[in-house]
Amino acid sequence: MRKLTYFIACSIDGFIGDPSGDATSMYRFVDEEFLEFLKTDHPETVSTPGRRALGFDDLPNRRFDTVIQGRSSYDLALKEGVTSPYAHLRQYVASRTLTESPDPQVEIVADDVVGKVRELKAEDGELGIYLCGGSQLAGVLFDEIDELVIKTYPVVYGSGMPMFGSDFAVTEFVHEEVRAFGNGAVVRTYSRKR
Ligand SMILES: NC(=O)c1ccc[n+]([C@@H]2O[C@H](COP(=O)([O-])OP(=O)(O)OC[C@H]3O[C@@H](n4cnc5c(N)ncnc54)[C@H](OP(=O)(O)O)[C@@H]3O)[C@@H](O)[C@H]2O)c1
Repeated sequence: MRKLTYFIACSIDGFIGDPSGDATSMYRFVDEEFLEFLKTDHPETVSTPGRRALGFDDLPNRRFDTVIQGRSSYDLALKEGVTSPYAHLRQYVASRTLTESPDPQVEIVADDVVGKVRELKAEDGELGIYLCGGSQLAGVLFDEIDELVIKTYPVVYGSGMPMFGSDFAVTEFVHEEVRAFGNGAVVRTYSRKR
């Protein structure tokens, strides 16, 4: 089974963005050391325009070959005029309102997004599926998430958009790995206890 990994940037208090979802105040922690980590360990989680700007668009995928995101998250790329934000991955966008995909490289999933993810997980292959966010889609796919990679930046928001837009349920994960950075960022990896 291929894994579904929620790879997400968070404040110390577990928010993925301000109350509107805006995560730009975390960007400043993506410094030289952090960028080197992304480049080495997770180059495919950087968007196509980002990879081009940073000069590593040709790096091979290390962990994921597929990405899924919610329509609101995809909207951020569309607003910048980017219709294929992860051109190096197979791309899926969950949406019931986007009747037609803005890009031939992006497939819209309108019905049974959980079933689609189960189908993708059942495919053969070494690389996994990157759940890019946001909160609402992560809530819908919560039971399918096998791994969490949480990039915690040293900021407290007080309130904001939670990691999961789902109901209260205590769910155990097993800590696998932690990496700390000079600027106070910490990246923790957890696998789901099945
Ligand atoms: N911190 C980070 O690393 C990070 C990463 C990604 C995103 N974000 C932030 O997250 C925010 C967006 O999160 P969000 O929770 O508002 O939205 P989201 O999860 O990105 O997208 C929600 C949309 O996904 C579609 N959707 C949800 N469930 C569905 C289902 N069962 N079937 C089909 N479509 C479904 C719906 O689209 P339709 O309305 O079109 O039907 C829904 O409006 C952004 O502001 C972004 O900045 C942060």
